[in-house]
Amino acid sequence: MSDILLENKELLCRLILKSAQADALKKAVFSKPADKGVKKTVMTPRVISGRVMLQAEVFHTDNKATHENIELDSSQRIAEYIDGYLQINLITTAGDCEYKLSQSGKSVVIGGLKLERELSAEKSFARVQIGGNNKSKRYILSGDEPFLVYLGVSDKNGRVYDKKQAKFRQINRFLELIRDIEKHLPEGELRVCDLCCGKSYLSFAVYHYFAVMQGRKVKMTGMDLKPDVIEYCSKVAEHLGFEGLEFICGDIRAYQPEEHVNLVISLHACDIATDIVLEKATDVCADVILSTPCCHHDMNKKLDCDALSFVGKHSMLRQKLCDAVTDALRLKLLEAKGYDVTALELIDPEETPKNILLRGIRKKSFDTNGEAAKRAMSEYIEAYAYLTGGKTPEFM
Ligand SMILES: C[S@@+](CC[C@H](N)C(=O)[O-])C[C@H]1O[C@@H](n2cnc3c(N)ncnc32)[C@H](O)[C@@H]1O
Repeated sequence: MSDILLENKELLCRLILKSAQADALKKAVFSKPADKGVKKTVMTPRVISGRVMLQAEVFHTDNKATHENIELDSSQRIAEYIDGYLQINLITTAGDCEYKLSQSGKSVVIGGLKLERELSAEKSFARVQIGGNNKSKRYILSGDEPFLVYLGVSDKNGRVYDKKQAKFRQINRFLELIRDIEKHLPEGELRVCDLCCGKSYLSFAVYHYFAVMQGRKVKMTGMDLKPDVIEYCSKVAEHLGFEGLEFICGDIRAYQPEEHVNLVISLHACDIATDIVLEKATDVCADVILSTPCCHHDMNKKLDCDALSFVGKHSMLRQKLCDAVTDALRLKLLEAKGYDVTALELIDPEETPKNILLRGIRKKSFDTNGEAAKRAMSEYIEAYAYLTGGKTPEFM
């Protein structure tokens, strides 16, 4: 076997196992088999008796299918499968790649190195919801946490109600994203704000994650305009004994926290409410910001750009364009204010279109009057003007 072929097979084997271990692998499809009695093999991650394994489903030419469960550290068995096929496609939430081996022995892995970089980078990608006989083992929350029962997500036996499964997955995914940024938070007492908290599933989950699961001291504020939800959430916090978790009714624009805020979270603050959240979070110099925007209307109303008018003729594409530029402009503004920024997927995009999470991590040293800040701000202003027929952003 040539060195290149060996390297490509090893790369592919690593990618299959690494993506499965990171819960990023959707499936690996093995086609063009050497064995004429086989049509193809599809490998998918499955939870088998409480642990994730790769299930290889081999489709035979007599229309029968056989199954084999493979441990996630079994590179030898994966390599044996790779040896039996000329084409293998990997579909993952971190990107796709394709391995091809010609009859003459030439091999290529298209997108392999990029995928390896994505899987190794300090980035988050959507976690695949793994099917099997013990799904709950894969989540941070198991379903029987008292706050989930009290909020009506699970029944008293800890079984998540069918109609709340999507909410349960969303909360867990948000906690995974919190886990990813934990190293950017200080030790000791944590100060957290959930802005536009609504019914506050997220506030309770994040409080539970830090205070109950990790035993950390947490001071947390949920804030919303609606008095009824604030009253309800305050009662729930009291009932659960969540000391340090308060809810305040009011406009977040007027909120002035007394202590330095370490983490601002926000889920689905509608339209420009997300901009208000981000402005407040940067005003208080929050160490980390995690915000999932909701519906976008503002840019759709303001879009006035000759060069893009052909997009505007298709209302669905116009909305998608406006969604994308709105979030990209938000990230640019965060960058101008000293944050390292990333756009992430919250959960599987098939579940909801409101699925982008904007993440900002405040740089340790950043001169807000320096060159980098000025450059990012002028990029923001120029792009805004280009898209809106010369308008200047409202905050200026
Ligand atoms: C779609 S709800 C989302 C609630 C919650 N985060 C969730 O995901 O279930 C948006 C919330 O933002 C609140 N809101 C909008 N603008 C606000 C503002 N300026 N100050 C405080 N709350 C605001 C609304 O009252 C509403 O409850």
